[in-house]
Amino acid sequence: MRELQKAMIEQNREKKLLEAAKAYAFEYMDSIKERRAFPSQKALEDLSVFDEKLPDKTGNAMEVVDMLHRYGSPATAASTGGRYFGFVNGSFIPVSMGAKWLADVWDQNSATPTSCPIASKLEEVCERWLAELLGLPTGTAAGFVSGSSIATLCGLAAGRNELLRRNGWDVSEKGLSQSPRIKVVLGKEAHATVFKALSILGFGKCDIIELATDGQGRIIPGEMPEFDSLTLAILQAGNVNSGAFDPIRQICEKAQGTGAWIHVDGAFGLWAAASNERRHLTCGIELADSWSLDGHKTLNAPYDSGVIMCKDRRALASAMQASGSYLLSGENRNGMMHTPEMSRRARSVELWSVLKYLGKAGVADLVDGLCDRALDFAEGLKAEGFEIHNDVVFNQVVTSGKTDDETDRILKGLESGGSVWCGSSNWKGRKVIRISVCSWNTDEDYIRRSVEAFVSARGHQSC
Ligand SMILES: Cc1ncc(COP(=O)(O)O)c(C=O)c1O
Repeated sequence: MRELQKAMIEQNREKKLLEAAKAYAFEYMDSIKERRAFPSQKALEDLSVFDEKLPDKTGNAMEVVDMLHRYGSPATAASTGGRYFGFVNGSFIPVSMGAKWLADVWDQNSATPTSCPIASKLEEVCERWLAELLGLPTGTAAGFVSGSSIATLCGLAAGRNELLRRNGWDVSEKGLSQSPRIKVVLGKEAHATVFKALSILGFGKCDIIELATDGQGRIIPGEMPEFDSLTLAILQAGNVNSGAFDPIRQICEKAQGTGAWIHVDGAFGLWAAASNERRHLTCGIELADSWSLDGHKTLNAPYDSGVIMCKDRRALASAMQASGSYLLSGENRNGMMHTPEMSRRARSVELWSVLKYLGKAGVADLVDGLCDRALDFAEGLKAEGFEIHNDVVFNQVVTSGKTDDETDRILKGLESGGSVWCGSSNWKGRKVIRISVCSWNTDEDYIRRSVEAFVSARGHQSC
């Protein structure tokens, strides 16, 4: 037996590496409340220790894990902690990490039912449960991907090919260069990843009609052009700044019977459909054709957990078509026919564990908790004289100082204080601070302390 093989057999038998990783993980979790929301300058500078040359020889496995904790843990954004409000970064529900750790040790490839029966079974269950939870048509297909960027890419690929098929054009036979022209319609405030997906799919600026939006970033329905069977429309359930929802029902009803394809980017907002209190925001989503959403945002499943849902399974599967006939395995739902990738980790395990644990009531409670805390945050800031630029309908709050300079000062003050982290954005011509309440860990006390951090950052003098 080779020396290296012997060493690794021993490492697996002794479990010291996993014990060390577990101890470091627990240390990280236990200190999350005291951690800076974003790393200190020193922690960022220390990352240069990784700029070493590729080792010539096999080293010490324990030192690898130690190094990761010593220099890696301090250089994380403490997004699981409850005081990190940047992007739309969620935390993880504890049960999902237990499930993930177990699945990580399984190290399965969930490409097909024969490569991993349990992951395929859980994909099948999640597909059914998600359609029920979100009120989508029974039989809606789901593909489990890394995130909404890829989910949107899949939904738009399915839509593009299906529109062309309806117009007598088989993309897999004839390609795209001579195909009938598709008109893409979306709001000016569509997420950057939607434009990215369109570009990857071969749509240029001149194929896209960007519609004017209202003060909250919603498409103005009257601006919508006529639909036809070559219209690919993309709506938004949850604007990344304001959290606003496009008037989905109104637009979908207009599209009914025209043969148009409607995709809804609901990365974080589609989860509103699971809450009695917030479902009205997503009214009409069942009339669309495809939807993208993330488990790793509002649902607080671990990264990477995106889902493409598509009413027409054949349209999704044919856009994701793989050529090897050995992969078309009989009656069973085949995960890789619903996604661009073949090998995929078993991400359905964590998603399933969250849905199984929370149930319908728990998901609703989670969604409402995030939204209620966002309302508290906005109220607290308003009481301290901060301007709130959006109607806080979901988990997003857009605020700012009185001037762009004051906004910059607040952002710098927050960053140097370290107790809270928020991102900046531009909103209706103003520099703003975007707050996304996305962690189940954020409670009323965190909100109070976060508002205090804003007040103190406003008084911060930049040097
Ligand atoms: C509305 C919206 N769409 C798409 C995305 C991209 O999602 P992901 O980062 O999971 O690819 C985001 C990310 O925040 C988003 O807010």
